[in-house]
Amino acid sequence: MNLKSLEPRLQTVLEWIPLGNHADIGADHAYLLGNLLDQNRILKGIAIEKNREPFELACKNLEKFGDRAEARLGDGLAPLQVGEVNSISICGMGAALMAKILTAHPEKVPEHVVVQPNDSAEPVRRWALQTGFHVKQETITVGFWHYPVLHFQRQAGPDPAYTDLPLDVALRFGPWPLKNQNPLLYTHLLEQEKRLRNLAHLPNPRLQEDIQKVQRALECFNVN
Ligand SMILES: C[S@@+](CC[C@H](N)C(=O)[O-])C[C@H]1O[C@@H](n2cnc3c(N)ncnc32)[C@H](O)[C@@H]1O
Repeated sequence: MNLKSLEPRLQTVLEWIPLGNHADIGADHAYLLGNLLDQNRILKGIAIEKNREPFELACKNLEKFGDRAEARLGDGLAPLQVGEVNSISICGMGAALMAKILTAHPEKVPEHVVVQPNDSAEPVRRWALQTGFHVKQETITVGFWHYPVLHFQRQAGPDPAYTDLPLDVALRFGPWPLKNQNPLLYTHLLEQEKRLRNLAHLPNPRLQEDIQKVQRALECFNVN
């Protein structure tokens, strides 16, 4: 396993995982866990894989960490015990699947959840809002595409990240990228606006809604 070359999306996930016991769901080759363990960023790591081939790869790659690491074959959070880990990560899959995995075993979701969806993070932002998790950090990383990375933490009360933002717009595009005036989000919004305007002649009510949402997101940027 090459421990030096995590992609920026996984490097960001790695940096946001707190010290403790951690499980990576859909670990595949277990590069993320391997790096977390190698850099002593976590005490113990559990790789969970639904498919046998990546599960066996994870077993092989984690061997060198002895009893600090373990791979388990299973679906989502099913192979975890309640309270066994302080944090989980789910990376490199669609946000709707992530929300499904998190919803299937609410009692097993620990205090910290770090996710890197491959598409719009809206389904996981909605999951967090409905289940009492705040968006502590969120950014956009560069790679083959632009990938969002989000860190949720269980906390009481309304999530202050959404204060002073239109909720539907922030759920779609992310409260922190909007508040932090993220330049990658700004460029994405300009491109979306242009693309959607070119389709505006089509009789699709969803299109008008999308154009308006993009325009309201652009209004959150203080650009002169
Ligand atoms: C595209 S790979 C991403 C691997 C790695 N997390 C990354 O970001 O590079 C997705 C992995 O998740 C696994 N997977 C998909 N659904 C899963 C589930 N419900 N439970 C556990 N693993 C799952 C797949 O077998 C696959 O190895």
